[in-house]
Amino acid sequence: MCGIVGYIGKETNPQIGLEALKRLEYRGYDSAGMAVFNFEKKQIYCLKCVGRISNLEDKLSNSAIFGTPFIMHTRWATTGRVNEVNAHPHSDCKGNIWVVHNGIIENYQELKEELIKEGHRFVSETDTEVLSHLIEKYFKGNLEEAVRKALKEVKGTYALVIISREDPYKIVAASLSSPLLIGINGKEYLIASDPAAIVSYTKKIINLEDNEIATITPEKFFIFKEKVPQEIELEVEDIQKEGYSHFMLKEIMEQPRSLKHSQQGRILLEEGLAKLGGLEDVKDKLKEIKRLIIVACGTAYHAGLVGEYMLEEYAGIPVEVDFGSEFRYRKPILDENTALLAISQSGETADTIAALREAKRKGILTLGIVNVVGSTVSRETDAGVYNHAGPEIGVASTKAFTSQLEVLALLTLFLGRQREMSLVMGQRIAKEILKIPELVEKVLQTRSEVKKIAEKYKDAKNFLFIGRKYNYPIALEGALKLKEISYIHAEGYGAGEMKHGPLALIDKNFPTIAILTSDSVYKKTLSNAEEIKTREGPIIAIATEGNDEIKNITEDVIYIPKTLEMLTPILSVIPLQLFSYYMGVLKGYDVDKPRNLAKSVTVE
Ligand code: G6P
Repeated sequence: MCGIVGYIGKETNPQIGLEALKRLEYRGYDSAGMAVFNFEKKQIYCLKCVGRISNLEDKLSNSAIFGTPFIMHTRWATTGRVNEVNAHPHSDCKGNIWVVHNGIIENYQELKEELIKEGHRFVSETDTEVLSHLIEKYFKGNLEEAVRKALKEVKGTYALVIISREDPYKIVAASLSSPLLIGINGKEYLIASDPAAIVSYTKKIINLEDNEIATITPEKFFIFKEKVPQEIELEVEDIQKEGYSHFMLKEIMEQPRSLKHSQQGRILLEEGLAKLGGLEDVKDKLKEIKRLIIVACGTAYHAGLVGEYMLEEYAGIPVEVDFGSEFRYRKPILDENTALLAISQSGETADTIAALREAKRKGILTLGIVNVVGSTVSRETDAGVYNHAGPEIGVASTKAFTSQLEVLALLTLFLGRQREMSLVMGQRIAKEILKIPELVEKVLQTRSEVKKIAEKYKDAKNFLFIGRKYNYPIALEGALKLKEISYIHAEGYGAGEMKHGPLALIDKNFPTIAILTSDSVYKKTLSNAEEIKTREGPIIAIATEGNDEIKNITEDVIYIPKTLEMLTPILSVIPLQLFSYYMGVLKGYDVDKPRNLAKSVTVE
């Protein structure tokens, strides 16, 4: 949610910062802004715009603003409407101190009232503006000193980058539960909230940890603790579109590769085992686990629901799946034989983190399935598995989802083999997981057929998605994707629940996408589809290759190859991802940055 960039060094054209900021636009794109210190005029100049970063770029090219340091921000509005005044950076009363901020200041109302009483004048509706005034209150010539004092009064989360006209040749950066890193390139420093902004500039980074405040000058930087730079595992190509018109399409099409990476080196075929290095330290504890609670949000939650079916059927472990936003307010009954598994692409989703912290407070074992290396969830869990799916830029999750499903299958193998699962069954699952990237490649060949189906249904106002067992969560995910990307009302349902309500909606203008793969619940799902057909509802089926009878009751069919039932969701979700993508494109929407949404939701 929101993106931050700061720069200090010999470069005086803020355009280089804008290039970095554009890489963060997927995290928020309601409005943007920058503040630049001009050493000749000894002034800080601010530019802001509503909408995309390109608008800010236009403003910059029409102005003669240059200088260093500079700070920038792209916003996803939380506190305060979308307008220029609320866009970051925010300043103090005199325009001396400028702040960009990710996160949320929970006690901003109290602080604001107090500061107003003391004579400070506020212009925006944001929580962030209290920070600039609070720093102003404590400023006596040294910026980091003032920041340190101000942050003592603040409750909430933040990644902050600050400059001051009266202590000018430095940037002060601070972080608490919101990522911030410093990229180092000789005597130049690029500060950002996400490695994607920095990777084309340098690979040498320092992550700011909670409660750390860094002072960065062209000569040196200073943090409370001395830290060794790490190398980031990111290549520039990972964050480019590679010829695709959108990141979403690129990420859908690269799933054979991302799924290969997720399973690489993790399958021991002969022994029918999964080798998960991140779980080694806790493997004895995992043997004792009698119950698993999965917490996640959005698409990752749907992965958790598929995991529930896998782990119960093959590992024999009772599983409960909850939204991070619900778990954190429940009074869960936990004992020493319960473990919590947080699933998160970004590892920064506020509700998932809050649920994880609640479980830690209760003292139970915590695990993670996370894509972003070094993210909060990965740091705060006792053990876990990285997805290694590569950076996901499209706001709607696609390749991270299939990777989460694959890692859950590996986890099922790992935990199953610690328990009752036989060698033969272990080998069978391992063999099928190995085939997945190739099968996904095959499903992707249905791309043009899916596009034609999208063209046929582009004017439909509603959609229903149905599935059972492993494909029930896929029905939920298909509906979520369509809502996110094409703004069409869609509902996902367990096929068996149709007759308990949703069937009333069905008529010839209400299409249903039915996942009708040849598995243990095929016949049951088929009769649910027939009930829809009887009421003249058009049906688009996702079916297994070789099933010709399905054509008798459906308008359109997309075929996917046969695999083990528990792995079917990895294949069946792909046509649904493509369908929502094409629907969004046909409607002319920005599928990589759907309205009102953000990639990583770091507020409650
Ligand atoms: C946002 C994104 C979704 C994602 C969800 C959970 O809503 O738009 O695509 O599924 O957050 O994110 P996480 O990073 O925790 O998987």
